[in-house]
Amino acid sequence: MSTNEKVNDIKPPLWVLLELTHKCPLECTYCYNQLDFANTKDEMIKEDWFRVMEEVRELGAVQLGISGGEPLLNKDIVEIVAKASELGFYTNLITSGVGAPEGIIGKLKDAGLKTVQLGIQSHDKDTMTLVTNHKGAYEQKLKIAKEIKDAGLQLIVNTCITRQNIHQVGEIIEFADETLDADYLEIANIQYYGWALQNVNALLPNKEQLTKAKEVTDKYRSKKKDMKAFFVVPDYFADRPKACMNGLGTTFLTINPDGMALPCNTANTMPIQWPNVKNSSIKEIWFDSEQFNHFRGDSWMSEPCRTCDERDKDFGGCRCQAYALTGDMHATDPVCSKSPDHGVIEKKIADSVKFANQDLVYRNKKNSLAFINKTF
Ligand code: SF4
Ligand code: FES
Repeated sequence: MSTNEKVNDIKPPLWVLLELTHKCPLECTYCYNQLDFANTKDEMIKEDWFRVMEEVRELGAVQLGISGGEPLLNKDIVEIVAKASELGFYTNLITSGVGAPEGIIGKLKDAGLKTVQLGIQSHDKDTMTLVTNHKGAYEQKLKIAKEIKDAGLQLIVNTCITRQNIHQVGEIIEFADETLDADYLEIANIQYYGWALQNVNALLPNKEQLTKAKEVTDKYRSKKKDMKAFFVVPDYFADRPKACMNGLGTTFLTINPDGMALPCNTANTMPIQWPNVKNSSIKEIWFDSEQFNHFRGDSWMSEPCRTCDERDKDFGGCRCQAYALTGDMHATDPVCSKSPDHGVIEKKIADSVKFANQDLVYRNKKNSLAFINKTF
C-alpha cells in the first residue's frame, strides 16, 4: 500500500506524551529541545490535562508518557498520574530526577505509575556535572534511582552518549546494572537538534569510538544478564534516515505545557502554527486539522523521496532534522545518501573533527561549570 492510500486510513494515536512543564533544573549540552524551550508558559491547568487524557483514551490510546522539561516540577503530577491510571493508561514517567519533591516516587507509585525512565549521563560525578551544568545532579539522581527500585517500579536508565562519555560505556553499563539495579539501559546516541546542534562539534563521537562502544555493549548483552541493554546508533553515520515518529501524524501525539498539539515533540521548530487543545478537541486536531494532515501520505514529499521506492520504509526521514539542516521542511532528510544535501552531514562530521576543541555552550552561559576540565 502506498503512503498516499494510507492517508485515507488514519489510525488514532498510539503513544501520547504530556509535557507537563518546560521548566528544567538542568542544562544538558545535548538537549534536543528548541533553543527557547524554557520560555514556554505552563498554561495547561490540571483540568485541561484531565480532559486531554479522557479524549485520547476515548480514541484508543493506551501508552502515556509524562515528560517535560522536568515533569516532577508540576505540582499536580500525582493527581494527573492518578487520573491516567483511572482511565486505564500504562504510564511512563520520563525524568531527570533533579529537583524532585521529597517522597514523590512513593506517591506516584500509589497513584498507579508503572515505569520510570531516568536520565543518567555517567557513572562519574565530574562528567555528569560537566554535561548537565548542575553540581548536585549526581547525588539527586542516585537517591531517586533507589527510591524507584524500593517502590517496586520498573527502572529504565537512559544515557545519552556524546564524546564526553563514550569512553565510559563499559563503566556506565556496570553502574546501571550493579549500582542502580536498572531493568533496562538505553545507550542513546543523540539526535542533533536544538542545543545539541549548537554543540555538535564538541559532542559528536567519531566512527571508531562508536564501533568500540557498540562492541562493549554487545559483549555485555552476550552475557545474558538481568538488565537489558540497548544501543541506538546515531543516524549521522548511516546512509538511510530513521523512520522518524513512524511518519508524522501516524502514531505519536505530544501536548506542550501551553496546550500546543504536535506530531513530534520538536515539531514546533518547523514553520507551522500547530493547533492548541484549548481551542479544539483532540479528535478534530488528530483527524481533521490541516497541520496534522500535512505530512500524511507522500504528496508533500520533494524529489528524490517522492518517487523513491524506499519511501514507505522511512517516510523521507526526520522532518525536524530536514528543516534544521536545510531550511526546507519538505526536503529529503540529509542523512540519506540520495539527498542532494547529504554533504551537510559529511561537513558536520568533518567539522566535528576539525573543531573538536569547541567549548560546550549551556542555556545559561553565565553559570557554566565547563571549567571542570576533562580531556576527551
Ligand atoms: Fe528515504 Fe527519501 Fe532517501 Fe528514498 S530518498 S531512501 S524515501 S529519505
Ligand atoms: Fe521531529 Fe523527527 S524529530 S520529525
